[in-house]
Amino acid sequence: VRVVACSLADLPPGSSTVVTAADRSIAVFNVDGDIVAIDNLCAHRQQPLADGVVRDGIVTCPAHLWRYDLRTGERVDASGVRQACFAVTVEDGVIRVDVPEPEPRPSIRDMLLEHAREWSRDA
Ligand code: FES
Repeated sequence: VRVVACSLADLPPGSSTVVTAADRSIAVFNVDGDIVAIDNLCAHRQQPLADGVVRDGIVTCPAHLWRYDLRTGERVDASGVRQACFAVTVEDGVIRVDVPEPEPRPSIRDMLLEHAREWSRDA
């Protein structure tokens, strides 16, 4: 889904906002004129990155200071951790973010059936 985040005028350089879509919280930043969007909830303990301090395109999580490159989502002070990034378009002064549809969650019935299948294979 493509969702409206805000107007470009409402997101000056150095600022951020949050948009919620497809069961996700997404932080949108203006990094020196580049608009970027990443998963708002930190991979560590799901604190909001939109509240973090940004310097040189790096956001620092306000909770425990993990740092992420806003253009790639990569954690810069350790490897193997990456926040999801989302495509952004700016048209006619409006910022929009493309958010993938959430994966369908299996029903309890489906989970029980899968468990029963595994159990019968192992028996
Ligand atoms: S919640 Fe972000 S560093 Fe801990």
